[in-house]
Amino acid sequence: MITLSTRWESVRGSAIRDLLTLTARPDVLSLAGGLPGTDLLPRERIAEAAAVALAEPTSVQYGETAGLAGLRDVLAAHESQRCGRPIPSDRVVVTSGSQQALDLLARVLLDPGDVVVVEDPAYVGALQVFQAAGAALHPLPLDGDGMRVDVLAERLAVGLRPRLVHTVSSFHNPRGVTMAAPRRRELAALADRYGFLVVEDDPYGLLAFDGAPAVPVAAYGDRVVRLGSASKILAPALRVGWLTGPAQVCAAVERLKQCADLCTSSLTQSITTELLCDTAWFDAHLHRVRAATAARARTFTSAVAELLPQVTCSTPTGGMFCWLDFPEGTDTTALLPRALEHGVGFVPGSAFAVDAPLPTAARCCFASLPDADVREAVQRLADAVVA
Ligand SMILES: Cc1ncc(COP(=O)(O)O)c(C=O)c1O
Repeated sequence: MITLSTRWESVRGSAIRDLLTLTARPDVLSLAGGLPGTDLLPRERIAEAAAVALAEPTSVQYGETAGLAGLRDVLAAHESQRCGRPIPSDRVVVTSGSQQALDLLARVLLDPGDVVVVEDPAYVGALQVFQAAGAALHPLPLDGDGMRVDVLAERLAVGLRPRLVHTVSSFHNPRGVTMAAPRRRELAALADRYGFLVVEDDPYGLLAFDGAPAVPVAAYGDRVVRLGSASKILAPALRVGWLTGPAQVCAAVERLKQCADLCTSSLTQSITTELLCDTAWFDAHLHRVRAATAARARTFTSAVAELLPQVTCSTPTGGMFCWLDFPEGTDTTALLPRALEHGVGFVPGSAFAVDAPLPTAARCCFASLPDADVREAVQRLADAVVA
């Protein structure tokens, strides 16, 4: 018998990562994982960038814990432009995916029992990290304009005192919604007034179908830690993410990253730098990804309207996810095995639930499959519903 830590015991397994094994079967069209379309990942350009990077001997060496100077510079410029104010390079910490940024942040900021406000439904990877840190989760509802910041304000007024408020501000995972600008401003103001930190987890912001990303919450205040990622705009296998925020937070995260993995891969950081610095290529690439993903979203929503008329489907304006609501009495967790038998995967709403169980909901990722397979996937889902 081996005794594991009590902190570990409180981490719920990710139903989504478990599902990936089932949906990887060749006979299954997967709407389950939050995977960017493999056909849209720029492998040839990455190979060229890798060749350039490898010409430099340091590309295969250990690097600085906070990230390669060239990458921190380009990310600082990019974040400064998004936030409309200068963000110096020393306020950027490169991490091994933004998932690592979340984990390091939770570990430097939270003591067991600290309150963390999360959106309900929530990004499962964030829930896991906060559970591992021993946090007390406080769920907040979302609507079509994102987090109900008004509900947060009411609860703060009557004594709620969170250490952190986590939000996926743009193209929410799993709901697909984007926080409206007045709510962003209000959230930043509440952070100042009550002394908590906002974690603005934003891997999808640049995937706005109209090409106009929302102004970040971090543009409205200083008590915001912003997380970004190369995963959805370049490729997940680079495992390059980043964090910008107050100097004290950056320094603490950097020190803890020394314990976690010393540094993120110098090779993939060099590749990422090369790709982001080639602005003509990067802009054209983003345009192509956005256009292809928007087309997939249209195919998905019109197939749902036609083949599953009883289901309510969100209207995506960017990102990768559609949120489906089946009629009262449906249990999407029970539907999933039938769907897999019919050759399609999705994630039941219950996987993202913090408080409300969400039995009738499902998250579908429209971005992963080529357009031609998207309709077939919905057809299979419709067949599973009537089976
Ligand atoms: C909201 C959100 N944050 C963070 C991540 C982690 O992404 P990565 O570690 O690949 O940067 C994901 C991945 O799907 C996500 O959806």
